[in-house]
Amino acid sequence: MSRFRSVVAGVGSYLPKKVMTNDDMAKIVDTSDEWIRQRTGIRRRHIAADSETTASMGAEAARRALKAAGLEAGDIDLIVLATTTPDLTFPASATIIQSKIGMVRGFAFDVNAVCSGFLYALATADSFIVRGQARNALVIGSETFSRILDWSDRTTCVLFGDGAGAVVLRGEPGAPGMGERGVVHSHLRSDGRFCDLLYVDGGPSTTKTVGHLRMTGNQVFRHAITNISSAIARVLDDAALTVMDVDWFVPHQANQRILEGVSKRLGIPEERVISTVAEHGNTSAASIPLALDAAITDGRIKRGDLVLMEALGGGFAWGAALVRM
Ligand code: ACO
Repeated sequence: MSRFRSVVAGVGSYLPKKVMTNDDMAKIVDTSDEWIRQRTGIRRRHIAADSETTASMGAEAARRALKAAGLEAGDIDLIVLATTTPDLTFPASATIIQSKIGMVRGFAFDVNAVCSGFLYALATADSFIVRGQARNALVIGSETFSRILDWSDRTTCVLFGDGAGAVVLRGEPGAPGMGERGVVHSHLRSDGRFCDLLYVDGGPSTTKTVGHLRMTGNQVFRHAITNISSAIARVLDDAALTVMDVDWFVPHQANQRILEGVSKRLGIPEERVISTVAEHGNTSAASIPLALDAAITDGRIKRGDLVLMEALGGGFAWGAALVRM
């Protein structure tokens, strides 16, 4: 039986200042604002400045989440960073963030589950807290996808952007029962048979380069709707809850059509779906905490609300999580 539960104590996010609109994109590749908006819902994305990295953006989101939680770096004993675009092949960018925020205790590491990375990081940090191996954890999603895009490939470069989001998890005594705040349940899946539908064509042990993102978009789209829907059904089932119990649906912000497809399939009312994809495009592991922060800041998500998160990305790796805020 678990002795602790992981309560969300604070959320923060960071988007680079530089904004690239769909019209800006149309100056680089053969596309249009109309095509991008109709197929994806994306209006603009943020692009990291030369001086910004995954760790610098992640550190800024972490500082904001700590402030919201009323905690300091010295109170944190674990950082789990979800990223596919680390500053360096090693050390883990989580340790760079650890140093940047002035945390000189505990431990920090990265997880790579691409767009579903935040859910993997959340489940990992939750396990450490539930077992009493960490008291307070920072779960961060931070990505600089602009650095791995092929800027001549219109089928991919229009979809992604840079950014970071962070959540402080605080260990509190007791299991997350009905009505109790905390991470209620999570469900993770992967299936490596589909790794050639969405991948980066480089890496240290193969090409010795970073590589560029490659994707068969329409096939990813189909798998996303089916797999995300089944992960949501599973996590609700495990928690003995239904869609009607969910106050807010905070999906990975990949594409408005995927959000709508999943919501329609599961009967999630449109007004309970948090969508920020128009503002920042697909920021991979950063997108869930970015959307969460936006909806907390504008007052929609309140303490005690039940939040359902989901994502699918390269691998494929996917999952869903239920969190009582
Ligand atoms: N501008 C204009 N035309 C374009 C562009 C563009 N940026 N990109 C592709 N096209 C063209 C294609 O060349 C094709 O032209 P053709 O018919 O003459 O051959 C046409 O548009 C249709 O292409 P499709 O790939 O079939 O378009 P689709 O409706 O599937 O939309 C999209 C493409 C938006 C990529 C969609 O498949 C998608 O969103 N897939 C999910 C991918 C995703 O979100 N991945 C992120 C990681 S995984 C995740 O986060 C869930």
